[in-house]
Amino acid sequence: MNATSTRRRVVVGVGGGIAAYKACGVIRHFTESGHDVRVIPTRAALNFVGQATFEALSGNPATPEVFDDVPDVPHVRVGQGADLVVIAPATADLMARAATGRADDLLTATLLTARCPVLFAPAMHTEMWEHPATRANVATLRAHGSIVMTPASGRLTGTDTGPGRLPEPDEIGLLGDLLLERPDALPRDLEGVRILITAGGTREPLDPVRYLGNRSSGKQGFALARAAVQRGASVTLIAGSVSGVSVPAGVEIAPVVTAAEMEQEVTRRAAVADVVIMAAAVADFRPVVRAESKIKKNGADPDPIVLTTNPDILHGLVTARAAGDLTDETVIVGFAAETGDADGGVLDHGRIKLVRKGCDLLVVNAVGDGRAFGTDDNTGWLLTATGTETALPMGSKTLMASRILDAVSEVRRDRR
Ligand code: PMT
Repeated sequence: MNATSTRRRVVVGVGGGIAAYKACGVIRHFTESGHDVRVIPTRAALNFVGQATFEALSGNPATPEVFDDVPDVPHVRVGQGADLVVIAPATADLMARAATGRADDLLTATLLTARCPVLFAPAMHTEMWEHPATRANVATLRAHGSIVMTPASGRLTGTDTGPGRLPEPDEIGLLGDLLLERPDALPRDLEGVRILITAGGTREPLDPVRYLGNRSSGKQGFALARAAVQRGASVTLIAGSVSGVSVPAGVEIAPVVTAAEMEQEVTRRAAVADVVIMAAAVADFRPVVRAESKIKKNGADPDPIVLTTNPDILHGLVTARAAGDLTDETVIVGFAAETGDADGGVLDHGRIKLVRKGCDLLVVNAVGDGRAFGTDDNTGWLLTATGTETALPMGSKTLMASRILDAVSEVRRDRR
């Protein structure tokens, strides 16, 4: 059982913006995980969604007022008892009031008394998000220890588009889960660091409708992107086939299909990356022949599929760095998906792979029997080129990502 599967006290604060209706998805995320959810809307939020909706979804009172239920002293008790506070949507006004320490409603009073992680999910028009006053408030909230998510880019109220859209409720929920598992998982230690991450599986076509592929969902790679962006990194995600994931706000995405396409994208972008993390399940082999039209069943036995070896992208990066095509400082992280066999256990094969690939860090996953591929949780080992081996405890893939990013930060610190 991980930390998110125990019942915790989660406060969902709702600001007065059109995205207030999406707070219902965030509330649902936490109630469905079994948590005790207390919704605190601002007065303005109730112009968009009624109090009854918040009370029905959470099963708790949802007043914006400090003077309701005075004997229970809610303006201090709710914040003091919370394990997590999530503000979605965080409007410009609400963040301004929080940054200056105002306590003129139940939500801002709660923010002053909470000593748990606080996650702001901003939503506002682009001009408001980019205004120096809002930038200063965001910086203040971060300096006070809150996590302020990067908003998504896209359609806003009306016809305008740009940065300022509320991140997807699932993304907000997954970051909240992470903070419940590990309150210090999102330091701003990767500010401005350019990170290239691969995720998902490659598909190697046999004909226009069939392919050789694997069970990777992309969840681990997307979790790395999710955590890295919140730690301040500028993230590009090269994604093969994925399922059950949404693109984290603030992440640039480059879709690919085959290993060859992935190699091309990685090679093109690695020269301007500070860190490359290869979480994708890249096909080692591809069919020699790709039929132009659908292979027909003609009564006879089918032709055998003849395979050829794909380029090893990870090893190629290490070679490129040695040749001076990447900077010496580029940190290269690989993954190893191992089942263990007669020649050795999962960790034995991981150790051999670390040496063969030559990367700085290698995350070893035990796979098969429903493990790692497609799951929400993960566990494994983190091996470093300098010989340390750390067990990564079972937890969400975002938790695993946060531990990997700690190690990346450490390698970068040691190189300076
Ligand atoms: O996507 P999920 O469903 O969340 O599952 C996550 C995961 C299990 C896919 C992930 O945690 C993982 O283990 N990824 C690596 C899977 C893999 O292909 O492992 P490998 O041992 O075959 O490859 C070792 C490393 O070399 C990997 O970093 C891989 O990206 C890289 N590689 C492999 C083959 C190839 N031709 N080029 C490569 O760069």
